[in-house]
Amino acid sequence: MESLKDRTAVVTGGASGIGRAARGVAKAGSKAITVETDVTKLASVQSLADRAFGEFGRVHVLCNNAGVAVHGSLDSASHRDWEWVLGVNLWGVIHGIEAFVPRMIVQKEPGHIVNTASMAGLIASQGLGVYNTSKYAVVGLSETLQKDLRPHNIGVSVLCPMGVSTNIRTSERNRPVDLQNPSGPEANDWFQLIGRYLTPEEVAGRVLRAVKANRLYVITHEEAREPLRRRFERMDRAFEESS
Ligand SMILES: NC(=O)c1ccc[n+]([C@@H]2O[C@H](COP(=O)([O-])OP(=O)(O)OC[C@H]3O[C@@H](n4cnc5c(N)ncnc54)[C@H](O)[C@@H]3O)[C@@H](O)[C@H]2O)c1
Repeated sequence: MESLKDRTAVVTGGASGIGRAARGVAKAGSKAITVETDVTKLASVQSLADRAFGEFGRVHVLCNNAGVAVHGSLDSASHRDWEWVLGVNLWGVIHGIEAFVPRMIVQKEPGHIVNTASMAGLIASQGLGVYNTSKYAVVGLSETLQKDLRPHNIGVSVLCPMGVSTNIRTSERNRPVDLQNPSGPEANDWFQLIGRYLTPEEVAGRVLRAVKANRLYVITHEEAREPLRRRFERMDRAFEESS
């Protein structure tokens, strides 16, 4: 999609952080909708789609951005941690695809889906296992979605940042009461994959450029290059080691 002029964009999780900045970028050239729809509920995301298509007739860009994070080792993760994080980070993206993509295909116009994953979707870190699981899934989903939607002229980008100055560290504020741990939230001394902190506006600008150029990966932090290269080298070595 070369330009967002006169296009309609929908951004989930637009009240804060990267979503708020993305809404700002989208608004500059297009009609942008962001409402605090609970993405864990398919019916809520479907009503968001009804509203967007009803109001504007078309939706060209969907940013599945809403997300939350928890810290803690996998052996101590509670079932509620899993339900909450996968509910928002993975099911939220799935619901966006279910509610919007079939209608975007039918409208037969160029479109684009942006899924917010993380560098934690490409590199695993101790203490981030639940979050890693959700974000690896979003990367895999996005890679396949790109192939599936290419014939329909709908591009896909997956955003994989490290540190961005947002409210992600206080994700617990978004946790529903019924998914809270009886022992309360874990201490917040985490985030190994930080690197430099970028502003949400800088990240949103990079996403916009990726949408216009129809690029799949939006990898914002140069600091990730070395650990990512080491991961691929370990995989490469495994061919000999496993023979
Ligand atoms: N900030 C970082 O360092 C960083 C790094 C990598 C990836 N990310 C990802 O970026 C995305 C945006 O997060 P952010 O950093 O702007 O954090 P943030 O906490 O500032 O914003 C998160 C947004 O998601 C919304 N949200 C949470 N639960 C929701 C739900 N059930 N339904 C709908 N909306 C919900 C919040 O209301 C908020 O608007 C997330 O997917 C996050 O995992 C952030």
